[in-house]
Amino acid sequence: MDKMIIRGGNPLKGSVHVRGAKNAALPLMAASILAETPLTLHNVPCLHDVFSMDKLLSFMGVHSEFTGRYMVMDSAGVVNPEAPYELVRKMRASFFVLGPLVARFGRARVSLPGGCAIGTRPVDIHLKGLEALGCDISLDEGYVVAEGKLTGASFTLDFPSVGATETLMMAATRAEGLTRLYNVAREPEIEDLALCLNAMGAQISGAGSDMITVVGVDNLKGVEHEVIPDRIEAGTFLIAGVATHGDVTVLNARADHLPGFLEKLQEIGAEVEVRQDRIRAAAVNGYSATDITTRPYPGFPTDLQAQTMALLTCAEGASLIKETVFENRFMQVAELNRMGADIDVDGSTALVRGVSGLMGAPVMASDLRASAALVIAGLMAPQGETAVQRVYHIDRGYERIEERLAALGANIERRRN
Ligand code: UD1
Repeated sequence: MDKMIIRGGNPLKGSVHVRGAKNAALPLMAASILAETPLTLHNVPCLHDVFSMDKLLSFMGVHSEFTGRYMVMDSAGVVNPEAPYELVRKMRASFFVLGPLVARFGRARVSLPGGCAIGTRPVDIHLKGLEALGCDISLDEGYVVAEGKLTGASFTLDFPSVGATETLMMAATRAEGLTRLYNVAREPEIEDLALCLNAMGAQISGAGSDMITVVGVDNLKGVEHEVIPDRIEAGTFLIAGVATHGDVTVLNARADHLPGFLEKLQEIGAEVEVRQDRIRAAAVNGYSATDITTRPYPGFPTDLQAQTMALLTCAEGASLIKETVFENRFMQVAELNRMGADIDVDGSTALVRGVSGLMGAPVMASDLRASAALVIAGLMAPQGETAVQRVYHIDRGYERIEERLAALGANIERRRN
């Protein structure tokens, strides 16, 4: 197992290219199941989660080729509409295949994903929505078995779940008649999926708002589609720049996908500059505390909460961080405190009192974004060495992060244990 060794204190300076969004690429890959002809995706990031989804699609009979940053997926040979536990347990996003499989083949058998470090993460909304579309759902030895011909219907999500919105939107593309989905998630990844599905021949309107309408069609064809840039990766590099009192520009980034977040950086005293497809953030003279509450898009993203907490450990003053999307997303706190941070957690709220500096320490990554937070904390610590263990978490969502941080001036290297 690899670990990341960091000697902090260097202000990060320079520019870094943002890769394609993991959370857009994964449902788009699942959408290839809906098409009768090959779907080609451009700007696909080289990440473990993408490889896991590729493995799952191959298991079902999708023929794929992944070269450079583009991936061609041909689902003509799908023989096995089943997603086994061994593959789903490694990555919850595998559950995305359920909607497309049942929409195209009238049946699917997909392992229930179970919980994960950041919460129990049930899939009840996905299942209730599919039932509303006429699907018979049963559970068989840990698997969801979905069967039936889908028919358009109206359905209101209990919570604007990103995954459930994507499952239901994909399923409805090939249902008979009109589907209306209310209280849906509005994340940019949903708009990107709708854009691709519409190019494939679907009739979706309203993606990006809280109500989506889908008129079912008989079949979809493959197209070429470019995955949007990863807003969470962009935010992570910007935080790393500000946290080290540096000056970092992210290239190929979408500022319009980071509402709430860029304003917060400005509020704490960072200089933020947006130009076409680049965003620059600098905080050469330090920064102050702020309060944040995570919310579904366009609120402050839960996927940037841990990294922002690392940043705020050394802000001037005290910050309150409230997590409202997941129930257990403060896994980084104990490790940050071991590095000298002063954080108290009370339920879903964390009080972060700014300290004058962090110290390097051996720490353990527990999930993807918490591990990014620990890397940022390591970069902030001017004394000592930080060794972040279990970096496979970070490889799920960031492509060769150490090389790209080193190019910005960080003293970081990957070592085999
Ligand atoms: C997606 C993102 C993840 C991000 C999250 C919230 C992908 C691959 N992952 O995850 O990075 O952190 O959105 O922005 O896109 N819930 C239910 N029942 C359901 C579905 C969800 O109770 O059927 C709850 C979850 O437990 C969680 C909340 O709703 O507390 C949000 O989950 P959801 O929006 O579905 O997140 P994911 O799609 O899993």
